[in-house]
Amino acid sequence: MKPAEDFIVPWVKAAEPYSDKHMDVAWENPQIVRMMSNENLLAPSENVLEAIVEAAKLGNLYPGSGPQLRQKLGEAAGLTADHVLLGTGSTDVINTVVHTFVAPGDEVVIPVPTFPMYEARVKVAGGIPVQVPMMSNFYWDMPAILKAVTPKTKLIFICSPNNPTGNQIKMEDLLKILDLGIPTFFDEAYYELENNVATRASMIKKYPHMMVNRTFSKAFGLAGFRVGYLLCDPKFATYFNRVRIPWNVSLIAIAAALAGFEDTADQERKRKNVIEGRDYIYNEINKIPGMRAFPSEGNFVLIDASILNKDSLEIRDYMSSKGIYIRPMSGHNMSRGFIRITIGTPEQNQLFIQVFKEYATKILGL
Ligand SMILES: Cc1ncc(COP(=O)(O)O)c(C=O)c1O
Repeated sequence: MKPAEDFIVPWVKAAEPYSDKHMDVAWENPQIVRMMSNENLLAPSENVLEAIVEAAKLGNLYPGSGPQLRQKLGEAAGLTADHVLLGTGSTDVINTVVHTFVAPGDEVVIPVPTFPMYEARVKVAGGIPVQVPMMSNFYWDMPAILKAVTPKTKLIFICSPNNPTGNQIKMEDLLKILDLGIPTFFDEAYYELENNVATRASMIKKYPHMMVNRTFSKAFGLAGFRVGYLLCDPKFATYFNRVRIPWNVSLIAIAAALAGFEDTADQERKRKNVIEGRDYIYNEINKIPGMRAFPSEGNFVLIDASILNKDSLEIRDYMSSKGIYIRPMSGHNMSRGFIRITIGTPEQNQLFIQVFKEYATKILGL
């Protein structure tokens, strides 16, 4: 008899599991400062909590496809409920889109460094991630992206503001990509935190092969409830709905998202916290000789700490030993010495700067 493992499709066998071990470790150590996963470190508002309790009372019933939430999200983007697809976080949305367009052997163009989930989900679908390194200034290498496209390309991922570099792609370059006519997944997970908030969602009307991804995990601070959504042409939405698992977003998650979406005061408070926090970390890091923080329009700051001559895993381990979890960028196609810091509360940001400065000062002999 063949071992049962031999029945597993080869591309699933070959795909590496996406490691969320760091999250389990963080939950086991609730006292640590979580600056590693681009969560929002401010708790949900009272309005969200009340909505959850009300929804929980109906927990014996199946949720629908969230028509009320989809309508609000669609209208806010100048679109309709039919343009909106909800997901169990936008990670679920990414997965749905990949499984709609990508068959084994198909290629997907992914400028890197970026959110590693794109690559992971493409591999599980049997697709071939074609990674296109950004330029040394971490801007998209447009000639290289255009050159990477082949007749086998089924999807292009563009994340803007990009995780982990924090910058946005220029409109003229986005247009060059859209002019290729290839399905383009434009990830706006952080757009509510941009310096001058400017969504590209309305472009879907002119470019129906463009899909805009959003999430309640970042600016809204509802990562634990797992709600993300896609804005797309209604025709495409009907296909995504075939791939999407019915009732994928729970009643409680829909209620939390609706209440969070309507709580504009809480959104403003959270946006202010991120913007002040990232300015503070950016400025303080750039005061350290040889150290470089990159300007960010997300809830994180990328730091080039190569001057310390340490591997980012070593920096991570040192900061962990001081109770602060950060993200080493070695797993994100970046050279050693790059780390990413999620913005916390003002106290957490100050603690990070204090501990990191002490560490750097000692190593650099300042
Ligand atoms: C660019 C980007 N897109 C999507 C996500 C996924 O977020 P979620 O699945 O919580 O919506 C993340 C999370 O870090 C991200 O950085």
